[in-house]
This record gives sequence, C-alpha cells and structure tokens, in this order.
Amino acid sequence: MLRPEAGREARRRHSLDIFPSAPAIRPPLSLVPSVVPPRGEPTDAIRRYFAETPHDHPVLAVDLSVVEWNYRALALALPETAIYYAVKANPAPDLVDLLASLGSRFDVASRGEIELCLSRGIPADRLSFGNTIKKERDIAFAHSVGVPMFAVDCEAEVEKIARAAPGAEVFCRILTSGTGAEWPLSRKFGCTLAMAETVLSRAADLGLVPRGVSFHVGSQQIDLGQWDIALAETADLFARMDDRGIALDLINLGGGFPARYREDVAGAEAYGRSIRSALDRHFAGRAITTIAEPGRGLVGDAGVIRAEVVLVSRKDASEDVRWVFLDIGKFSGLAETMDEAIKYRVTTDHDGGPDGPVILAGPSCDSADILYEKAGYRMPLDVEAGDTVLILATGAYTSTYSSVGFNGFPPLETVCI
Ligand SMILES: Cc1ncc(COP(=O)(O)O)c(C=O)c1O
Repeated sequence: MLRPEAGREARRRHSLDIFPSAPAIRPPLSLVPSVVPPRGEPTDAIRRYFAETPHDHPVLAVDLSVVEWNYRALALALPETAIYYAVKANPAPDLVDLLASLGSRFDVASRGEIELCLSRGIPADRLSFGNTIKKERDIAFAHSVGVPMFAVDCEAEVEKIARAAPGAEVFCRILTSGTGAEWPLSRKFGCTLAMAETVLSRAADLGLVPRGVSFHVGSQQIDLGQWDIALAETADLFARMDDRGIALDLINLGGGFPARYREDVAGAEAYGRSIRSALDRHFAGRAITTIAEPGRGLVGDAGVIRAEVVLVSRKDASEDVRWVFLDIGKFSGLAETMDEAIKYRVTTDHDGGPDGPVILAGPSCDSADILYEKAGYRMPLDVEAGDTVLILATGAYTSTYSSVGFNGFPPLETVCI
C-alpha cells in the first residue's frame, strides 16, 4: 500500500532526527559527578536538606543527581534506544529541565504536559503524545505546535488524528498481560494484534504514517522476560503488516523499569541486556528504531518524603497491632498504596530498637485512607506522635496524585535539590 507523499516526507524528516547529537550530550556514566548511595536510600543531599529545612507539612525532596544517574544508566543500557521520559511520573520543572539538558525526549499524556514541556523550551518534535485517550481538540493543539507522534489503540482514535493532525505519525499500542508488574497497566490500554492490524491499516488509508507498535509491560515490572513476550508479538504484527504492504519500523518499549522499594530489584544494565537480546532474537536483520518511555525507573529512587506521625493508637488495649497515622495518606500523594500495590520503605529515627506490627494510615476522614494493613509492616515500639518518618523512593507518582486539598490538607510540596 502506498503511503501519501506528505506522510512519507514527515516520516523521513523525523527518522533523520531521531537521535540528534545524542552521543555528544551523553558523557559516559563514569563522568557522573556525584556518588550515588545504594538504591532507594536517602542521599546525603536529601538528609542535609531535611536537617536544615523545617516544615510543618509533608515534603517530597528529589535529588536531581540520582535522576541524572538513573537516566545515564538506562541510556547506557539501551544505547540504541531514544528515551522519552514519561512526564506523568513527576513533572517538576527542574527535573524536566535536567532531563532535557541530558538529551531526553518526553512522553506526554495531555495538553497540560505538552504546554509544560514547551514552556521549558523543549522543541515539540522531541515529544510523543503517548496517551491513547485524547480529545480531538488536544490532538489538534499538539499537531499545531509540531508534536509529530501519537499513540492509538482503536480506529476511532485514528479517525480523530486523521482529522485533527493530518499526515501525523502513529503507533498502535498492543495489550499486555501485566504479569510480573506491581502496578499492572493491562486491559485499559492497547488492543489485540488482530485489531492492531486493522488500526494501522486504517491509519495508512487515512493518510497518516503508521510507524509501529508500542506496549507497556506494566509499571514496576520485576520479570525481565516480559519484554521478550511483547517483542515476539510485535514481530508477529510487523510480519502481518509486511503482508499488507505496510513496513513498520518503530518499536516503543514503554516503561516498567523499577524503583527500589522494599525488595531489591535488578539494575538498568540487566534490563537493557534482556531487552537487547529479545530485540536481536525477534528483529535480527531488520532496520528498526526503538524508543522507551521510562518514568518510575528514572525518578522513583530519587525522591524521599518526610512526613510526621500524628497519632499512635490501638483499637483495644489487648491488641498488639498499633495504628500509626501519618500526616500523608492515599489522598495526599500515596495513591499507589491502593491495594497495597507499591510498598514503600518507611524509616524512623528509632529504627533498630524493638518493633511490632502496625497498620499505617493517612490523616483524612475517609476510611479508605489506609496505606498498609496486610503487607506486614512493623515499626519501633517507641514511635510516637510528632516523630518524623521518611518514606523512601517516592519520587514517582506521588506529587501529581496528591489531591488539591481533601479535608483541607495541602497538596504534596516538591523540592528539587
Ligand atoms: C504510556 C505510558 N508510557 C510510560 C509510562 C511510564 O511507565 P513507568 O513509570 O512504569 O516507567 C506510563 C505509565 O503509566 C504510561 O502510561
């Protein structure tokens, strides 16, 4: 099937530009200036900041040197892959500026994230509109400012893009199982391979440029083999599209790279090795462009929330289990404790002494505001109201999940240091 001339031209320009000066702006990892502590621990800079700066509310401190280290580690692990930071993980302007200066591109989910990137001086051609659910007027806005690539997972979205962003490049998201992920992204996003075939063909028919396929194996993905499964399906789809005369060349590897919470996780290097060998297995001899959209893996480890114990109580004097209420909860940043999915490490100044089982909860008047009840959390027996707690590896998916003021509690403040 012939692609429209305009689309082919747009595609040529974009693919020439896909790795602009990347080697020049990425010095080797050994040149990263700071010494990074074990993953998921507070850095000296964060400890110093908290020691010097009192607050009467919870604060997220993000150490940008850790973000830089994580970015460089992933870029080294996937040297042929363009990194599009998933802005949704943490849109703090200083963090976005840092990643832009390192050569990152950006996966944006909304007009707001596009405007944020543009306001930081990031050219629109470094953005990918990765949300499969977009208003047509937001697509038109993105197109008007020069965003080149859009995610789709159904024909209706393709039709919107054809109307609002004629000639744009699209990639089709396919379903994944989410197996192995602590925060699965299955079901809601993506479509079957058979449907993807139709969606990408429809894109070509409507004058768009069907570039390729995206998937997300699930956030905080612990099973490195999940990329192999998704890439095998992607190769199958590429072959089906070849049969239709549509040559795809773009693979969007999504996110899924983990932060270090309670359990240790493999490093970027292991993820890179596993993905590179899966790419070799399924795409040997084929010219492909790969991109990735990491969020949590770049910023999760870089942040620590300092919070305060508001109350320690028991429901009956005979009970062992104490309820420890913090001044931060599900509605003020810790939304990923939903179903106790993401298990943050929580430390106190009393750690090391005798401890006992606790239920950790937030401060709001909503009984859903319980952080951990089943996950086996323990805290020192002498923890009391007024104590400070540090909630580790909270750089991703916290500040933006914080409500504007549920029960009058302020949104989570972010400080980049
Ligand atoms: C489209 C898309 N890309 C990338 C990401 C980032 O994923 P992660 O934080 O697991 O790296 C997400 C997360 O929700 C996403 O929806």
